[in-house]
Amino acid sequence: MNFSNKLVSWYQVNKRDLPWRNTTNAYYIWLSEIILQQTRVWQGTPYYLAFVNAYPKIEDLANAPEDEVLKMWQGLGYYSRARNLHFTAKDIVVNYGGKFPNNYQEILKLKGVGSYTAAAITSFAFGLPYAVVDGNVIRVLSRIFGVDTPYDTPLGKKQFQELAQELLIKENSSVYNQAIMEFGALQCKPKSPDCSVCPMQDFCEAYNNNTIAELPVKSKKIKVKNRFLHFLMIEKKGKVYLGKRKSGIWQGLYEFPFLEFSDRINEKELLSSEEWVDIFADAKVEMQSISPEFIHVLSHQKLYAKFWKVKTNDINLKNYQLIAKEELENYPVSRLIEKYFETLKLT
Ligand code: ADE
Repeated sequence: MNFSNKLVSWYQVNKRDLPWRNTTNAYYIWLSEIILQQTRVWQGTPYYLAFVNAYPKIEDLANAPEDEVLKMWQGLGYYSRARNLHFTAKDIVVNYGGKFPNNYQEILKLKGVGSYTAAAITSFAFGLPYAVVDGNVIRVLSRIFGVDTPYDTPLGKKQFQELAQELLIKENSSVYNQAIMEFGALQCKPKSPDCSVCPMQDFCEAYNNNTIAELPVKSKKIKVKNRFLHFLMIEKKGKVYLGKRKSGIWQGLYEFPFLEFSDRINEKELLSSEEWVDIFADAKVEMQSISPEFIHVLSHQKLYAKFWKVKTNDINLKNYQLIAKEELENYPVSRLIEKYFETLKLT
């Protein structure tokens, strides 16, 4: 049996029963793929079920308020996915009469959809012969076929895409694509895969050359930026200031005013900083609590955050609204702020 048939046989026995595998509804498949883009299956599944339940038709998602969609997304991270999801639902309703496009080129034009997602939707929903290439697929192919071209280079991208397309079982693209991703997720794992039970062991180049741990190869190391953030939970007459973020990864989410520094600073330095004085000037400020440092790791940045709970009646902040404390949890916030809210509940 060749690689592709072996893979499908393995899948028939080992596949997980995942909710988006029991449908050919392109809207549901698109929804699942956007949720799963940077999220693990166990984490994404409840969100998928909640979205399908709240928005059974694409029109329902298109008509929902953005705050509600972001609130539903809360905790998943990479919020541009949720904003694009909402945008694209409206786009499909307005420009495609609510009917999900059914060919690769049109699907690729949708906001938030790249070549991986377009191939996934066209194969899973319409059975069209487009091979998916994601992190799982790259790992499987690089190891079994011994491809050591860095996958994050133009040449690497081309080679993996061509190899994947060659191996695709065209008349069974949906099952084949699911199978190779599942094989990457369950068997050919990133770290210490159990090769003793692998059906590909005999002809796996990496197994035979003892290079499992070296493959796949990546060329660039991403530089991670450290940011030191001090969020201010400013209470004024029983309400706190909250604002809606206008740009960046947290666009559309709500947050406290915050001060940012490029190094870790102590309380005294914060209170005498220009940034602090800009907000409070000579207002009378009662310091209530300072949280421990929260460390929040994102793909390109590492955030070190502290939350300062203060009380004052003497300031008026533009661009922020005063929100009753009991209402705070109704607003969509980043996972970082949500983690802080969780600690407040304990006190
Ligand atoms: N990860 C991304 N898409 C997936 C899918 N359709 N099934 C399982 N894991 C996935």
